[in-house]
Amino acid sequence: MSSSPVIQFGMVTLFVASFPLAPLFALLNNIIEIRLDAKKFVMGLRRPIAAKAKDIGIWYNLLRGLSKVAVIVNAFVISFTSDFIPRLVYQYMYSLDGTMHGFVNHTLSYFNVSDFQPGTDPLQPMHLGYKVEICRYKDYREPPSSSSQYELSKEFWAVLAARLAFVVVFQNVVMLMSDFVDWLIPDIPKDISLQMHKEKILMVELFMKEEQGKRLAARDNHNQDNCNSPSSATQTPPQPRSRTATHAVGWENKHKQPEENPAPIYKL
Ligand SMILES: *[C@@H]1O[C@H](CO)[C@@H](O)[C@H](O)[C@H]1NC(C)=O
Ligand SMILES: *[C@@H]1O[C@H](CO)[C@@H](O)[C@H](O)[C@H]1NC(C)=O
Repeated sequence: MSSSPVIQFGMVTLFVASFPLAPLFALLNNIIEIRLDAKKFVMGLRRPIAAKAKDIGIWYNLLRGLSKVAVIVNAFVISFTSDFIPRLVYQYMYSLDGTMHGFVNHTLSYFNVSDFQPGTDPLQPMHLGYKVEICRYKDYREPPSSSSQYELSKEFWAVLAARLAFVVVFQNVVMLMSDFVDWLIPDIPKDISLQMHKEKILMVELFMKEEQGKRLAARDNHNQDNCNSPSSATQTPPQPRSRTATHAVGWENKHKQPEENPAPIYKL
């Protein structure tokens, strides 16, 4: 994996709200690139030496971080560069009849042309054919008749609060949804996880069998000792020792010989 797909992923996810067609173009680009690469690898290049890798490594964390940043960036882009929030605020807080009627009037503030600073007023005041006294401009500011004229108005702060609230809500909803999708689509396909489960069961079975075999062998030894000891205690002490030795070789690879086992033999 090289850095170029990650850069592409970053571009697409960070700016998808500004350019919603970007994912489509990225998809087309990648389809063409994959086909071209396939042709190149099959026909144009010496076969590369494959190297085994468990997963995509550090790139996973990079992509994960990038997608988190992208959610935040998109939340801010949507809430601060579009009219989406001011429209909602107007509809639910200021509209008299609950419609969008009068929205543009609401977003425009008043300006008294006599407040132009000297030298900045229009050169031809009669350009429109009549004397302009009041101008409108796009902002939420106090009208000239107010005591704090041209200061940010109450509506500005209401809209700003709504924008920030939208960022928080959007971010949480998207993260929740992505977690949900994460949970819905498993990382490991079902048949593979089933196989892994089976393998684990087999391993446990094998281990149990081994343990059981060991225990049986230990009991065998013990019984044999008890049977042999009265009759041949004086006669052949080295015989059980050699038996345990052969047993020990068989088990030595994986398990330590139980300690209580050889002790009675040596005594006898
Ligand atoms: C614009 O809104 C103001 C109140 O904010 C109102 O007095 C005025 O009549 C409205 N103008 C139009 C053209 O609707
Ligand atoms: C604009 O300001 C001037 C000077 O302050 C004032 O005389 C005039 O009435 C104002 N015009 C409007 C439409 O309020």
